[in-house]
Amino acid sequence: MGKLDGRVALVTGAASGLGKASATLFVAEGASVVFADLNEEGARAAATEATANGGVASGERLDVTRGAECERVVAATLERYGKLDILMTCAGVGDSAPVLELDEATFENTIAVNLKGTFLSAKYAFPALSRQGGSIIALGSVAGIIGAPGFAAYGASKAGVIHLMRIFAAEGAAHNVRANAICPSWIWTPMVEKAVQRLIPGAPAEAAQAYLARQSPLGRMGTPGDVARAALYLASDDAAFMTGQALVLDGGLTIGPRAV
Ligand SMILES: NC(=O)c1ccc[n+]([C@@H]2O[C@H](COP(=O)([O-])OP(=O)(O)OC[C@H]3O[C@@H](n4cnc5c(N)ncnc54)[C@H](O)[C@@H]3O)[C@@H](O)[C@H]2O)c1
Repeated sequence: MGKLDGRVALVTGAASGLGKASATLFVAEGASVVFADLNEEGARAAATEATANGGVASGERLDVTRGAECERVVAATLERYGKLDILMTCAGVGDSAPVLELDEATFENTIAVNLKGTFLSAKYAFPALSRQGGSIIALGSVAGIIGAPGFAAYGASKAGVIHLMRIFAAEGAAHNVRANAICPSWIWTPMVEKAVQRLIPGAPAEAAQAYLARQSPLGRMGTPGDVARAALYLASDDAAFMTGQALVLDGGLTIGPRAV
C-alpha cells in the first residue's frame, strides 16, 4: 500500500531535478501524477520513465508564468483524473548575480518564474484542491532565509515563495488545504550545474561538488531523494497538522557560524 494511494498530484518543473524525483516518488507511492514543465518532451519522458514498473502518470506542457496555461493544465488534470489533491511547484530558474551586475531582465524573469509562477500555479489549483482538501508544496530555498551574496533575484523570489505559502495556508485552512515550503540548500541538479559554470567557468564538477558539500555541517550536498521524501511527507496524511511552514533541508547550513 502506498502513502498516496488514490491521490492525484500535479507537479510543475517535473521534467528535471527535484520536481522529477518528487513526482516519480509520488507515482511509486500510488498517486496519479501530472508531470508539467516548459520542457514538454522532458515532462512526457519523465512520466513514461516513472511508470516503467507500473503506476499512473502523464506529461503536460506548462509555462508557469502564464495564468491561462496554469488554468488549462489544472483543467486537463481534472478531466483526466477527476480531482486534484496535491500541487507541488518545482518550476524555477536559478539565475542571479551580485547586485551591481544583476540586470533588470534577469531580476524580472527570476521573479516571474519563481514567485509569480508559484502564485499562478497555486491560484488556479486552489478551487480544485479545496473541493476535498489538499496539500500545496512549494520549492523555497535556504537562499530565501539567509542573505547570501550574489542571490538578490533568486533569494528575493524564494523569500516571497515562503511567505506566499503562509498566506495560502491561512486562506486554505478553512477548506483543509495545507500549504508548506521546502527549503533545500545545495543539491546537484542541472540548475546548480549551470550556476556553477556561470560563476566559475570550466570548474570540474567534482571540485564544485566537494566545495558545496563543505558548506553544510553534515559535510554533503542534499540529494533529489532528500527533497522527494520531504515532499512525500508534506503531501501525505502524516503531515495533516502541518501548514504554513518552511521545512529546511540543508545539512545544518543555516544553524549559524561553523566552529573555528
Ligand atoms: N538544486 C538546488 O540546489 C535547489 C536548492 C533550493 C531550491 N531549489 C529549487 O528547486 C526547484 C527545482 O530546481 P532543480 O534544481 O530541480 O532545477 P532544474 O533546472 O533541474 O529543474 C527546473 C525545471 O523547471 C522548469 N521550468 C523552468 N521555467 C519554467 C516555466 N516558466 N514553466 C514551467 N517549467 C519551467 C525547467 O524546464 C526544469 O525542468 C526550483 O524552484 C529551485 O529554485 C533547488
